[in-house]
Amino acid sequence: MPDRPKLRVDVVTIFPEAFAPLQLSVLGRAQRAGLLLVRVWNLRDFTTDRHRTTDDYPYGGGPGMVMKAEPFFAAARAIAQEAGGLGRVILTSPQGRPFTQRLAYELSRAGHLVILCGHYEGVDERVAVGLRAEEISIGDYVLTGGELAAMVIVDATARLVPGVVGDEASVREDSFTRGLLDYPHYTRPAEVEGLRVPEVLLSGNHQAIARWRRKEAIRRTLRRRPDLLQAAQLDEEDRALLEEVLREEREGGGGGV
Ligand code: ADE
Repeated sequence: MPDRPKLRVDVVTIFPEAFAPLQLSVLGRAQRAGLLLVRVWNLRDFTTDRHRTTDDYPYGGGPGMVMKAEPFFAAARAIAQEAGGLGRVILTSPQGRPFTQRLAYELSRAGHLVILCGHYEGVDERVAVGLRAEEISIGDYVLTGGELAAMVIVDATARLVPGVVGDEASVREDSFTRGLLDYPHYTRPAEVEGLRVPEVLLSGNHQAIARWRRKEAIRRTLRRRPDLLQAAQLDEEDRALLEEVLREEREGGGGGV
């Protein structure tokens, strides 16, 4: 057991029970092994009124409620005291910087993250300013609360911490790490419902298999996410494969999806 986790994440939320899934599977194992520490704090424990109020009406009027600032500041003080500092502070928000694999890598090296889960119509702006929180969005849609967003961020980030995922090669080969979508995968049997595994995968020819996979990754990216292909770093061989794929696509061949 390492003496200190490689990544500590403190989450501040009005729904601490929502984080139970982080005890399962890969992240649960990483926590039991001491590689990862996820500490969930109930925002209501940092309120001072009888009703444990975490929201209030917006100044200036308008619909919805706004999360109050003081409980977040009090929670941050408690975290700083326990953890010896605040690390990188994140506020989940649809107004935030888009969360990407690149940002997940960056966060996985931060050592300490504090994630504040937003709710209702928003969080008093002084939380982000006063705690120097970076707002992060997991996509261009609006969730009912920041808990799912926080779990997405924790999951994608923690699996990049060395040792959390047993098979390092599978992490290195992830889609997006290479700037391309993943190639198609198959397991036994060789035929299902009349659908056969591509012959090359049964050939035992490792070089041909690697070439086929690279080519199909390029084909998928071209068909499904041409925006990614623009930014992907393709070497000379990749560019040749892309030319082949483009030719096949024009001729209506290629198959697959
Ligand atoms: N809270 C509500 N929607 C969100 C989103 N898309 N990303 C992060 N936090 C959110």
